Amino acid sequence: METFKICKSFKFLITTSLFFMAFQSRAIPTEGHEFLISAPSHYAVETAQKIHKMGGNVVDVAVAAGLTLSVTTPYYAALGGGGFALVRMNNEVPMALDFREVAPLETSPTFYTSNKNRSSQDGGAAIGVPGNPMGLYELHKKYGKLRWKTLFGDALSLAESGFYVSGEWTAKTSGQEKRFNPAGKKYFFKDSKKFYLPGELFKQPQLAKALKLFRDQGPKGFYQGRVAKDLVSSIKSQGGVIRLEDLKKYKVRWLQPIKTKYLNYDVYLMPPPSSGGVVIAQALSMMEILNLHKKPYLSVDELHTLAEIEYRAFRSRALLGDPDFFKNPIEQLTNDKTLKKLAKGISPSKVRPLKPLIDTSDPSESTETTHFTVLDSKGNAVTLTTTLNGNYGSGVVSDRYGIALNNEMDDFTTRPGEPNMYGLVQGEANKVEPGKRPLSSMSPTLVLKDGKTVLALGAPGGPRIISGVLQVLYRVIGREMDIDRAVQAPRLHHQFLPNTLYVDEESLPPLLIRALEKKGHKVEPGWMAKVYAVQRSGEGLLKAAFDHRGEGAAGGY
Ligand code: GLY
Repeated sequence: METFKICKSFKFLITTSLFFMAFQSRAIPTEGHEFLISAPSHYAVETAQKIHKMGGNVVDVAVAAGLTLSVTTPYYAALGGGGFALVRMNNEVPMALDFREVAPLETSPTFYTSNKNRSSQDGGAAIGVPGNPMGLYELHKKYGKLRWKTLFGDALSLAESGFYVSGEWTAKTSGQEKRFNPAGKKYFFKDSKKFYLPGELFKQPQLAKALKLFRDQGPKGFYQGRVAKDLVSSIKSQGGVIRLEDLKKYKVRWLQPIKTKYLNYDVYLMPPPSSGGVVIAQALSMMEILNLHKKPYLSVDELHTLAEIEYRAFRSRALLGDPDFFKNPIEQLTNDKTLKKLAKGISPSKVRPLKPLIDTSDPSESTETTHFTVLDSKGNAVTLTTTLNGNYGSGVVSDRYGIALNNEMDDFTTRPGEPNMYGLVQGEANKVEPGKRPLSSMSPTLVLKDGKTVLALGAPGGPRIISGVLQVLYRVIGREMDIDRAVQAPRLHHQFLPNTLYVDEESLPPLLIRALEKKGHKVEPGWMAKVYAVQRSGEGLLKAAFDHRGEGAAGGY
C-alpha cells in the first residue's frame, strides 16, 4: 500500500501588509516494506517514490530528492550550499561523504579581522565554495543505478512549470527583502516587491537552465563554464573573493564515520569537520555509564542528568576543526577514562559547573539547514543533511541563474572571541584557512544491530541538531520507544555556553521546570531541531517519522 502523509506548520509575522496564520498537525508514522523516505517537503517524497518505482536504489532516490529540494526549498537546500551524508550500501561498512563548503583561496585567518567591512553572515565575503552539486554527483557516481540524467526529471519540471509554495517558503522568503541582493529580489519576489503567498505557483526558468547544464555536463556544468562565471561575478559584485579557480578545485571527501557502541547497538556518526559525532559519542557513553535509560521517563532525575550530560559533551566541541588542517583530539575526548570521569562528575542533586575550554557568549541561532533520510528493506540507507547556514545563506543570489548562495564562512572562527550566528565562539582549530572546511553541527547518523541497519536519522537546527539526534537515539535505543514517539517527545538542549537549559516550549509541565531550576539550571523555553528518521525492524519492516515541530512529509511503500 502506498502511504503518503504531510504535516505543515507555518507562522507569519503580522506586519502592516501581512496577516498571521498558523497551522500545525501532529505527525503520523508512515510504514512500508520496500523503502521509505522522511523529508522536509512532500515534493521530495513524490520524487523519491517515482525514482524508486523506476528501479532506483536509495542513492538514486536521495540524489533526485536533493535536486528537487534545491528547487522547492532554496532557503536551505539550494545548489549554493553544502552538506554531509552517511551512506550504507550492500551491507558494507557505512561511509561518510563530506561535501561541505570550503574557504576561498583568497582568505586567511585575519580575513575578517583585517577588514571591518567584511561580514561572515551577509554578502559576498560570507560565501564558501559550494559543495552540494559535487556531493550529489559523487553519491551517484559511487553508488547510483539509474542514469544521472534520469534523476533531474522532477527538479526540472518543478523549476520550469513551477510548484506551489508552502507556508514555510513564504515565511522564510518574505523576511529577506532587506538582505537579498537585486537578483534575490528579482527571482524570489513578484515584481521584485511582493512575496508569494502559500499555494501560489512559483517558477524558476533561470534555475532550470543551470540544472540542465549540470544534468548534461556533470560537475563541469556547475563548477566551470557559464554557471561558474555567473557565480564568480555575482559574488564579486557583493564583495566576495571566490574565483573560477576555487570552483574548479572543489573536491568532496569520503571519510570514516566515528563508530561508538550504545547498549549493544553500533552507532555510526559524522566525524570532523562535524562536531556532532564526537559530542554524540561522548553523550551516549555518559548515558550508558549513568544508566540514564533506567531512570523514570521525564522525571526530574532523568532530565537533570540529561542536561548535565549535554553540558559536558558540548564543552569539547570547541576543540575540533577540519581534519586536513588539524589533528582532532578524538581519542582523548572519547576514551573510557575521560568519559567515566566526566560522567561521575555529575551530581544527582545539583548542577556542577565546569570551566569553559574557550571563551564564549550569547547566541542568536538559526534553523536554516535541512535533512532527509532514505532507508530500504535490505538496510541500504542514505541520511543526508544540507545547508546554506543562514536563511538563504548570505542573501546573495546569482545574477543569471538565480542560485542562492551560502554564508557558511560564519561557521569558522571568524573573529576570535565573538559568537557566530549560533552563539558558538570557536577555537583555533577552526580558524579560517584557504581550502579549509568550517566546523559543523550536522549529524547524519546510522545505527546497526548485529550488522543490520535499524535506524537512520538526522536533523537541521545548528547545535540543536546534536541534542535532537542524541535524544532520539537515546529514546529509541535506551528506552525502546517507537520512532514517532521518540521524535515527538519533549526535548532539552544545552550547548555548554551560554549556560542555559533550553526546554521544548509548552511540552514540559511548569512543576518539572521549577524542579530543574531548583537544581540550579537556568531554564528557558526554546525551539528544538526537526528530526527526520526511518527505522527498520529485524524483519525488514520500515517506519518513518518526521518532526511535528515543522513542515515535513514521509512516504514510500
Ligand atoms: N551551518 C550549520 C552547521 O553546519 O552546523
